[in-house]
Amino acid sequence: MADLTTTYLGLTLKSPLVVSSCPLTYETDNLRRMEAAGAGAVVLYSLFEEQIELSEMGYSSYYGQHREELPEALRHIAQMPEYNQGAGGYLAHLYQAKRAVNMPVIASLNGYYSSGWTRYARLIEAAGADALELNIYYLATKPQITAAEVEQMYVDLVRDVRQSVRIPIAIKLNPYFSAITNVSRRLVGAGANGLVLFNRFYQPDFDIENRAIEPSLDLSTSSELRLRLRWVALLAGQVKADLAITGGVHTAVDVIKSLMAGANVAMMASALIINGIDHLATVSGDLQQWLDSHAYASVKDIQGCLSHVQIGDSAALERANYLNVLRTARSQKDS
Ligand SMILES: Cc1cc2nc3c(=O)[nH]c(=O)nc-3n(C[C@H](O)[C@H](O)[C@H](O)COP(=O)(O)O)c2cc1C
Repeated sequence: MADLTTTYLGLTLKSPLVVSSCPLTYETDNLRRMEAAGAGAVVLYSLFEEQIELSEMGYSSYYGQHREELPEALRHIAQMPEYNQGAGGYLAHLYQAKRAVNMPVIASLNGYYSSGWTRYARLIEAAGADALELNIYYLATKPQITAAEVEQMYVDLVRDVRQSVRIPIAIKLNPYFSAITNVSRRLVGAGANGLVLFNRFYQPDFDIENRAIEPSLDLSTSSELRLRLRWVALLAGQVKADLAITGGVHTAVDVIKSLMAGANVAMMASALIINGIDHLATVSGDLQQWLDSHAYASVKDIQGCLSHVQIGDSAALERANYLNVLRTARSQKDS
């Protein structure tokens, strides 16, 4: 039987299948089921910067008004930097998660403004997280903000968090940078140990009858994988960081493609929301079977075999291939 063991962020994982940050990770019992079904690690749902700020503001104003009414034992709470209801709940969940499963548990912080995170990154480390994933979600809508400033903000944020914790850090990137390879290298230079490609932005929809903008959440399909495959294949070997694919991983074939591109792990959220947690067992079994039937001893035998540095043919991944595709489409139409 082929060995599914892989490494990610300096951790040894029994499988490259990782559950990505999503509501299925709210329940400790689900985490146990994920591990039993073959997950190699889990990324918990995110603690959002706004959540941290809101609960902190809420508590401070409450404390200001009610200090004298509080029992003596609770009066020191305001001095405890770790006290925070929303964030406190997250830390408690993380602590319990670590006790419930043997697989690595990766915590997730979601935001863009630096100061609140740094402190929570430290608390997350103290609560036992094996690693921290930073989902930097910033939509540059102000016309005066330049691309260079946005990139610098990301880099500064990573540097701040790196200086606060010892655990490995992964950055969940979005695909909208003009120079992904350059920004990836800068993030790694600032202390990131891994890059997660790519975040999906939830695009609000327009309700034309009510002339309203409504939130909309579409789950992914495997078609979203290609953008990730291309960029992971281009980055593998060019950045000194582990790589994870998130977005469009639904089947064992998707996992195999991700590994061949050069990913250390393939993450799943939509596929598990659609098919249930036990889908992990199906994908894991199919992956094992495929590796065995192709006489591969280990996932390491295929990792990166289609990456840019391995195939040495950048044209297949770059603009030249676009021209080939156009030419093929045209000749198909003409015949
Ligand atoms: C319902 C839902 C909730 C999510 N919540 C988070 C979150 O809290 N933090 C985060 O970084 N990503 C979150 N994601 C994004 C997923 O982790 C994942 O990156 C994305 O869905 C792409 O993977 P998929 O194609 O396997 O769904 C969420 C996704 C879904 C579908």
